[in-house]
Amino acid sequence: MITSKELREKWIKFYEDRGHVNIGAVSLIGDGQTGVMFNVAGMQPLMPYLLGKKHPKGTRLCNVQGCVRTVDIDSVGDATHFTFFEMMGNWSLGDYFKKEKTKWSFDLLTQVFGFDKDKICSTVFEGNDSVPRDNETAGYLKELGIKEENIFYLDKSNNWWELEGTVGTPCGPDNEWFYPRHDEKCCDTCDVNCDCGRYVEIGNDVYMQYKKLEGGKYTELENKNVDTGFGLDRLLLFLNGLTDGYKTDLFDGAIKYLESVSGKDYDGAEEDRKAMRIIADHTRTAVMLIGDMNGIVPSNTGAGYILRRLLRRAIRYCKNLGIDANEMNGVAKIFIEKVYDTAYPLLVEKEDYIIDEISKEIKKFEAALTAGMKEFDKCIVGMERKNAFMSEKDPSYVPETQISGKQAFRLYDTFGFPVELTIELALERGFTVDEEGFESAFKAHQELSKAQAQAAKGGLTEQTEKTTNYHTATHIMLAGLRKMFGTGTEQKGSNITEERLRFDFNCDHKMTAEELKTLEDFVNDVISKKIPVVRTEESYNKAVSEGAYGVFNPTSDDQMVSIYTIEGVDKQICGGPHANNTGDLGKFIIKKEESSSGGVRRIKAILQ
Ligand code: ALA
Repeated sequence: MITSKELREKWIKFYEDRGHVNIGAVSLIGDGQTGVMFNVAGMQPLMPYLLGKKHPKGTRLCNVQGCVRTVDIDSVGDATHFTFFEMMGNWSLGDYFKKEKTKWSFDLLTQVFGFDKDKICSTVFEGNDSVPRDNETAGYLKELGIKEENIFYLDKSNNWWELEGTVGTPCGPDNEWFYPRHDEKCCDTCDVNCDCGRYVEIGNDVYMQYKKLEGGKYTELENKNVDTGFGLDRLLLFLNGLTDGYKTDLFDGAIKYLESVSGKDYDGAEEDRKAMRIIADHTRTAVMLIGDMNGIVPSNTGAGYILRRLLRRAIRYCKNLGIDANEMNGVAKIFIEKVYDTAYPLLVEKEDYIIDEISKEIKKFEAALTAGMKEFDKCIVGMERKNAFMSEKDPSYVPETQISGKQAFRLYDTFGFPVELTIELALERGFTVDEEGFESAFKAHQELSKAQAQAAKGGLTEQTEKTTNYHTATHIMLAGLRKMFGTGTEQKGSNITEERLRFDFNCDHKMTAEELKTLEDFVNDVISKKIPVVRTEESYNKAVSEGAYGVFNPTSDDQMVSIYTIEGVDKQICGGPHANNTGDLGKFIIKKEESSSGGVRRIKAILQ
């Protein structure tokens, strides 16, 4: 058994022995330079130095840096997703390069962690129009004794590292290290590319020698840098032969505590295990964010809102587990006093403050949660009754399965339900939420408050260029889906952030890789054609007779509606706003396709 404390020490010692200076960790809260809300990678604070500025501690650096990534927050509850993790890193700022780095990563894996060199797999960048194939790295890997058949050349989506959604940041091709959990192949072709889970990514070395420019272009940096990141939580799991991330010493105490206060067994019912994981993960991240050197508190905007969402989601799962939400403080104390006391002494100093902030949020939300759950149940039961009644009368009746934007907004406004919580609750009951409707109710409400306040200056929720572009990309994508799967394909939910679009639609199967590629190509083709996006106003009737469609319930047939047309591609009834021209969007990349609920698929995509 290796503990998290030992692993941190081993990492630092290995690189200190090779001339690196431990620079320690910085704040988890975004630096304001990149627009990224939290520190999502160890390299983020080193950005200016990777771009050429001289670092006061020299050219060889290492540390263990906390990171917060909340894109996968909905997946937390399984064995491997977390919203906080630590990245063990080391850097060369224009110092050593591929030859030394491949050797050190190799030595670390084989000599310190005892990996068998015949089983280590490595992936390198296969090259594209702007950057050549990374034969140099592959050559060193072979010299070190990695088997030729264990070296894979992969494309940019796999072996290129950059901070998504940013410009002017350093980036480059990377070399990823993989190791199999066991030797049983799931099929003849089972290798690193197989998604059966046999191979685990242990870490990666990024050769950062490029800078990302506007419009998806890159320019060479003067410095050839190395940026290494090995996830501590994952390596700890792997080294201990575990597959459940909540069984390492990082979570052991928290889970035992939750078992004792709930009287339930972690290895018992799946739903209890899920609740314990969510409470433990979210409490840990909340502790880290509140106790950070630039600590934040729950609020309704920005990073504070994410913190609020985490805490409220955890509070709800305390209810599911049958414990008082104040037990989260017991969990928080274990993280502060027993797990992270030596690595993050500031948490110990700020302990009372952290507990106080968590308690305040629990107090704020607890009463509203019970009342809000009643309200939520009422919405669902109402629809279920109506559906049962109507279906009996008319067998062709299509049941209602969507909570309206207005209802979701009421839950938010009156009961403090983050809309994501409503969506999650709805999913559990087989329903969806009209997310766009929620957004418009939210906006309408805000406009009203603004008008009432009269003086509102520097509005908080202005649509940005980025979100506007995502909105237009969503329209093009839906047009593509309708072309592929028929015009019965409809929006079942949509959510847009600065970072990505997320779109739900009805579809009876998991989309194949080929279908996803066709869809991606379709959108990029429309982008490359630089088609104007034109807004017109017409009566609902006329719009529909001209082929316009959209999630919209008119109060009358002649109600005036706003329509956005991309000539030859799409015509939707929509409030906007949209990009002026499809050529403004950048490159469209699908990141994920997954199930959202029965018969509803979800796509996450980005614009680069
Ligand atoms: N920056 C690289 C990562 O986050 C090392 O994986």
